[in-house]
Amino acid sequence: MNHKEDELLHCSDVKKNFGRGEGRTEALRGVSLSLLQGEMTAIMGPSGCGKSTLLHCLSGMDTLTSGEIWFKGQALHQMKEKQKDILRGTSMGFVFQNYNLIPVLTAVENVELPLLSQGESPSESRKKAMEALGKVGLYERRFHKPAHMSGGQQQRVAIARALVHNPQIIWADEPTGALDRETTDKVLQLIQHLNHEEGTTFVIVTHDPHIASITSRIIYMDSGKVIHEKRNDGGGI
Ligand SMILES: Nc1ncnc2c1ncn2[C@@H]1O[C@H](COP(=O)(O)OP(=O)(O)OP(=O)(O)O)[C@@H](O)[C@H]1O
Ligand SMILES: [Mg+2]
Repeated sequence: MNHKEDELLHCSDVKKNFGRGEGRTEALRGVSLSLLQGEMTAIMGPSGCGKSTLLHCLSGMDTLTSGEIWFKGQALHQMKEKQKDILRGTSMGFVFQNYNLIPVLTAVENVELPLLSQGESPSESRKKAMEALGKVGLYERRFHKPAHMSGGQQQRVAIARALVHNPQIIWADEPTGALDRETTDKVLQLIQHLNHEEGTTFVIVTHDPHIASITSRIIYMDSGKVIHEKRNDGGGI
C-alpha cells in the first residue's frame, strides 16, 4: 500500500459492470487516480460515460466489479457495508442535483438528521446544524421547509447537511444542474469559500465548463475511462 501524507484517496484499475451477458454495460473500464487533501477536482465527460458511477464507487455507495480503492490508507473495496456506512458518516458528505431534502422537515431538521442518525445528542446536533446553516448564509431561514425556499437556498441547505459533520471530502454530482447562472455563481462561491477556509476536498461532477474553471484539476472521462487530465492553477486552495 502506497499511502502518501497528503493523499486522501487512491484507486487503481476500478471496473464496474451493470448486468451480465448480452445486456452487460461496462460503466467503468479501469479507472486509476488519486485525490489529494484540499484539492478541488471536476469530473467532466459526455452523458453516460460513467461520471456518476465513478462517484458512487469511490464513495463506497456502490460496489466494484474489480479494482482497489484506498481511503486514507484504508481498503474501502474490502469493507463491509456497515464499515462503509461509518466511513461515509464520519468522513464524507454528498450533494446531488435535486438537493434530496426531506420536504416535511425544516432546514435545521434536515441538516441535523445525519448527526442524529450517527448517535450525536439532540442538543449537540442542533448546535452544529445551526452553525452549518450560518456557514452557508441561511441562519435566518433555519425554520423554513424546503418548499418555501428557492432552488439556490435549498442547495445551500443540502451543502450545510453535507458539511455538518466536518467531512474530509464532499462528493457533488451536478450540484448546480438545476440552478440558473446567478444562483450557480452563489453556490460556487460558497464551495470555493469552504475549500479555502475549511480545506474541504471537493469532487464535482459537472457538464459546465464555468464550474470546472474554479477547480484546481479537471478529469475528463469517456466510455468508462479517464482520457485526459488538466491542472488549473487558478482554482482550489
Ligand atoms: N443502476 C444501473 N443499472 C444499469 N446500468 C447503469 C446503472 N447506472 C448506470 N448505468 C449505465 O452505466 C453507464 C454510466 O452511467 P453514469 O450514470 O455513470 O453516466 P454519467 O456520466 O453520470 O451520465 P450523465 O452525465 O448523463 O449523468 C451508462 O451506460 C448507464 O446507462
Ligand atoms: Mg450522472
